[in-house]
Amino acid sequence: MYIVILAGGSGTRFWPLSRVAKPKQLISITGDRTMLQRTVERVLPLKPKRILIITNALQAEETEHQVSGYRGVHIDVIAEPAGRNTAPAIGLAATIIAAHDPAGVMIVLPADHFIKDEDALRDTLLAAVQSARKGYLMTLGIMPSRPETGYGYIEAEMELRGEGPFPVKRFVEKPPLEQALYYLEAGNYFWNSGMFIWRADMILEEINQYMPQLSAALKTISFSEDVWELSDLEGQIEKVYDSVDSVSIDYGIMERSTNVQVMPVEMGWSDVGSWSALPEVVAPDAEGTVCINAAGNIALDSSDCLIYSDGRMVATIGVHNLIVVSTPDALLVCDRERAQDVKKIVEELSHSG
Ligand code: GDD
Ligand code: MG
Repeated sequence: MYIVILAGGSGTRFWPLSRVAKPKQLISITGDRTMLQRTVERVLPLKPKRILIITNALQAEETEHQVSGYRGVHIDVIAEPAGRNTAPAIGLAATIIAAHDPAGVMIVLPADHFIKDEDALRDTLLAAVQSARKGYLMTLGIMPSRPETGYGYIEAEMELRGEGPFPVKRFVEKPPLEQALYYLEAGNYFWNSGMFIWRADMILEEINQYMPQLSAALKTISFSEDVWELSDLEGQIEKVYDSVDSVSIDYGIMERSTNVQVMPVEMGWSDVGSWSALPEVVAPDAEGTVCINAAGNIALDSSDCLIYSDGRMVATIGVHNLIVVSTPDALLVCDRERAQDVKKIVEELSHSG
């Protein structure tokens, strides 16, 4: 089986720690290895034939650098000339894999998720690989705990109780709040974890059916005899990306396909969407405050705060619900409820050049 890691996101919600050339997946939010490195390490025990990391040209060098130390596995870093969201990235990976091994199963993983129980993830992936070999598009479903509107929802046919996999009736990407509330109540909806398992030839067939423009562009890629000599592909990839629209796999395929199944999994999953999600991945102290990388930091009578420091000492007294992020060249102080708005700072910065 092959691992495809999607690592081309821009991660603007972790400013000032994340920057264009160093988005969320390339930084260490929790203070040790980066999200990308943890993603790679988590799948090494599965002994994949190869790992393909699809990223943006701006991040390719740092990506290569971060994965250069892993031995005993082939890791290819593929640079997209521009981000076109996840459908083209997945289509490209499937095209490369299919050229070598048409019925090869690919496990598609985001590079920027946190998973507490990695054994549970690996066991579920292995079970999903079995169903994928039969031709299904497999998703991993997380039991929802809030009416999150930033996720996809998977409606499962759960008349047949048990562990699954379950056939999927419907896939709804990022529904409005009212709908999300309904799904939460209904009991047979899962969050889409953003991890997919399928055969390269099966997903290419679906792309051919539902995204003909992308399919036609991908079919122009020709491979030299040794298809893993990927450096030859650069010019061809550029042409493909010139002609395809920016569409996510969720809107492009998952909402339309009739061939989807879901494997429920409990693994302590978080997509660490913003600074306010940190308590999901690092245990807070008795007052609900999380301090990271903050040797010697002092949070006196400070409850429910998130304090991240890149070296400098940070001290707070009597503050509540604050996010404080200190890096060598920028300091963020933000109301915890406004963590989603950090991306507005990045927008502001890009306008002011
Ligand atoms: N190579 C590449 N190119 N990777 C990309 C691109 C791109 O243009 N755009 C995004 N990615 C990567 C991101 O780095 C991330 O690892 C993954 O693809 C998913 O993209 P996101 O932009 O983070 O998607 P999302 O969080 O809005 O939604 C997806 O994930 C949710 C769970 O976290 C969807 O699959 C939802 O249905 C799902 O619930
Ligand atoms: Mg995401």
